[in-house]
Amino acid sequence: MTDVPTKEIRKTFAQSLLTWFAEQARDLPWRRSEPGESARPPYRVWLAEVMLQQTQVNTVVPYYERFLARFPSVETLANASLEEVLKEWEGLGYYARARNLHAAAQRIAGEHGGQLPDTFEGLLGLPGVGRYTAGAVASIAFGRNVPAVDGNVRRVLARVFAIREDVARSRVQRELEALAASLLPSGQAGPFNEALMELGATVCTRASPECADCPLANDCDARRHGSQEDIPPPRPTR
Ligand code: ADE
Repeated sequence: MTDVPTKEIRKTFAQSLLTWFAEQARDLPWRRSEPGESARPPYRVWLAEVMLQQTQVNTVVPYYERFLARFPSVETLANASLEEVLKEWEGLGYYARARNLHAAAQRIAGEHGGQLPDTFEGLLGLPGVGRYTAGAVASIAFGRNVPAVDGNVRRVLARVFAIREDVARSRVQRELEALAASLLPSGQAGPFNEALMELGATVCTRASPECADCPLANDCDARRHGSQEDIPPPRPTR
């Protein structure tokens, strides 16, 4: 697909992205920590990532806040009935997410002493946690050096490296994950992953990307060729 980026490209990519994110990150409830907290509590990172799997940030915010007020910890969620959980989820859609969240909370309470697993593989074993969510929680909550590649991140990477393949294919997704892993600055995976998601959601949008505001514009192959709106290509129809 694409060659492993050179050390020089890896360094400027991460630096430009992290500097931009430090200045531009939206103030979102799951990014805040309470006074006295040194890091973001894993339960809250997990909850936010599950809600964000199929739903846009603006829709998620009020649900996230209500859900957290009702179920402030893994334990309160595990002890609730499924009906209570589904009631709080009502309107957000994709209810399998709520069922899996509840089942996972019960497993964490019963088998992990109430603590979320702190590795990518451990998280991947939970109901409803796929590679993206495991990577997001492992990096953001536990500082693990693993990528988290969602649809927004795939679009950013496909453009910067002019990858014209169908990003919905699982082979291409694995390759993009490997590319993201090769760009990841060790020790800063959480901010790096979140910055890529943020860039895809706010600047490197599907239609009419705002290249003038993009920290990666100078390194972007699609931009260089004026093809940012053609990548990723539309899904082939049968
Ligand atoms: N989409 C999925 N996870 C996100 C996050 N942590 N921040 C912003 N957008 C996201």
